[in-house]
Amino acid sequence: MKRRNSSARRRFITSLAATAAAAAWSPRSAFAADPLRIGLILPLTGPFASTGRQIEAACRLYIARNGDTVAGRKVDLMVKDDTGLAPETTKRIAQEMVVQEHVAILAGFGLTPLAFATAPVATEAKVPMIVMAAATSVIPQRSPFIVRSGFTLPQVTAPMAEWAAKNKIKKVVTLVTDYGPGLDAEKTFVKRFAEGGGSVSDSLRTPLRSPDYAPFLQRVKDAKPDALFVFVPSGEGTAVLKQFAERGLRESGINLICTGDVLDDDLLDTIGQPALGIVSSHHYSAAHPSPENKAYVDGFMKANGGMRPNFHSVGGYDGMHLIYEAVKKTGGAADGEKIVAAMKGMAWTSPRGPMSIDPATRDVIQNVYIRKVESRDGHYWNVEFDKIDNVKDPGA
Ligand code: PHB
Repeated sequence: MKRRNSSARRRFITSLAATAAAAAWSPRSAFAADPLRIGLILPLTGPFASTGRQIEAACRLYIARNGDTVAGRKVDLMVKDDTGLAPETTKRIAQEMVVQEHVAILAGFGLTPLAFATAPVATEAKVPMIVMAAATSVIPQRSPFIVRSGFTLPQVTAPMAEWAAKNKIKKVVTLVTDYGPGLDAEKTFVKRFAEGGGSVSDSLRTPLRSPDYAPFLQRVKDAKPDALFVFVPSGEGTAVLKQFAERGLRESGINLICTGDVLDDDLLDTIGQPALGIVSSHHYSAAHPSPENKAYVDGFMKANGGMRPNFHSVGGYDGMHLIYEAVKKTGGAADGEKIVAAMKGMAWTSPRGPMSIDPATRDVIQNVYIRKVESRDGHYWNVEFDKIDNVKDPGA
């Protein structure tokens, strides 16, 4: 076992060295007028395909609205499907994109394990890696070349815990998916809710692969808390809310509160009635009332056959903005260190509201909104009714 591990490690290091050497030798990187290749790696099939669909659509919308040339370089977006739950596949695609396709920037990363697996490739090849979706707090610490354009779970969970404590909720059970972002959400909720005077009586964790929520929700029903706090990754909310409704938890007096991952805009109309009235916290709602967001939602829906943009889409859109603005600052040079330096401290108005990149952590600073699901014109929306300004990732 030990021998196998060490030989696997040797192979890994050798392949990384090859990646770095090939990147350094790339004749293309020498000429500013060559296309700017961006390697966008996303789950476009499998259980998390909606994340990939949303981010790809948002990146294409950004290019359509801002032109396909930046600082004199034609933007060449190369999109690859990593299928979602195979970290070694994501890493291999990233290596191939750097070595064979000479991409200047890697982007995408639909789930935390995929971002973790690819971080060493970014470090070795000195290629910026824009994390658009994966949301475990620690991700940017895995490589100095990572910059995050999405969000973090502690960042959106802390305001939910504080809101619950202030709104007569005393006893909560937490239910999260058992991996990085879920564990971050659980830890943050338990800590912040206790600080606000509440208590968490039980913390339940469901598997990432093929979860069955029914037995967990039965346990919650028996525990009779004031509220159930939920985090599941986008795409899973429909199953949780269906079971929550079918088992009659709401009728037995249990409120559901959650991060916005559960009430994903892409799925909200499909979830429908069981979502009505649910309070959640998140950094983006398609119902965000700003002119920038109205133009974004209209443009996105028109370009994508009526598909509503969700929170992952703005991770993609703002990731493209970061890339464009950084390449403008470097005058078209795609040097990885210069690009990351240019991204640090950058601030702009996103469809989600004002946001910036923390120069110390390369993580996103943004408003977090408290929202409630309402039905308007036959559709369901997360309507914002409170906000906390400029929230930094508090860590987990
Ligand atoms: C993650 O794997 O980091 C992740 C995926 C989907 C989410 C949130 C976090 O909605």
